[in-house]
Amino acid sequence: MPLPLQVGVIGGTGPEGRGVALRLARGGATVVVGSRAIDRARQTVDRLRERAGELPLDAADNRTVADRCDVVFLTVPFAHAAAIVGECAERFRPGSLLIDVTVPVTFDGGAPQLVEVAEGSAAEHIRGRLPRRVQLAAALKTVPARVLGGDAPLDCDEFVCGDSAEARSRAGDVLRLIPGLRLIDAGPLAAARTIERMTLLAIEINRRYKVRDARFRVVGV
Ligand SMILES: NC(=O)c1ccc[n+]([C@@H]2O[C@H](COP(=O)([O-])OP(=O)(O)OC[C@H]3O[C@@H](n4cnc5c(N)ncnc54)[C@H](OP(=O)(O)O)[C@@H]3O)[C@@H](O)[C@H]2O)c1
Repeated sequence: MPLPLQVGVIGGTGPEGRGVALRLARGGATVVVGSRAIDRARQTVDRLRERAGELPLDAADNRTVADRCDVVFLTVPFAHAAAIVGECAERFRPGSLLIDVTVPVTFDGGAPQLVEVAEGSAAEHIRGRLPRRVQLAAALKTVPARVLGGDAPLDCDEFVCGDSAEARSRAGDVLRLIPGLRLIDAGPLAAARTIERMTLLAIEINRRYKVRDARFRVVGV
């Protein structure tokens, strides 16, 4: 994909969204950090620049992100994903790509639990609420924010699924800007049912081994 590429992050002020913004801006994309409140988006951009220098970052409210960007990451808590997609529905550009990063997990009482989603996965739940003119892929669901927001190469694999081969390919073109991340084409959107459970598994592994950076590598591919 030719650079400069403009990528947006809805919910870009949280740890996962900041990590996406940091990695892609370092990779050469112009990243628009989105928030419900433009001031929070601006503060996030300022903090990322304090940490990592003059990166190509901009700030906007979430709806403006949908307006401005052909590729948009969704990094809000799953419980609010449908609402924010609904709010932005009219603003997404025709032919744009949404990359869903949400995982339907709760930490009631400290223990992680997968939220049962009627459609089978968060990604399929979002597909049902997204205008047909917007393509959907899912990615980065198993990469911890702590790793994404750090400086070391990611040194792991990540699964990409999507509602078409084109959506997966476009998502891959963007994600290849991140050094040390090998992409595994996991096929149609329904693969998110497994991938989201793998995130839960990674969280459990972290707890059991008292580490924080567990993630995946596929051998034999
Ligand atoms: N954290 C991880 O390690 C990790 C790893 C893989 C996947 N994920 C997934 O990535 C997503 C983001 O994770 P996170 O840890 O960054 O989450 P988070 O900090 O809880 O939330 C991210 C951002 O979402 C926005 N937000 C919060 N409530 C909202 C609402 N009611 N409506 C609209 N926006 C709202 C907030 O931005 P504003 O207040 O600025 O609008 C917030 O900064 C989650 O779905 C998570 O499951 C996380």
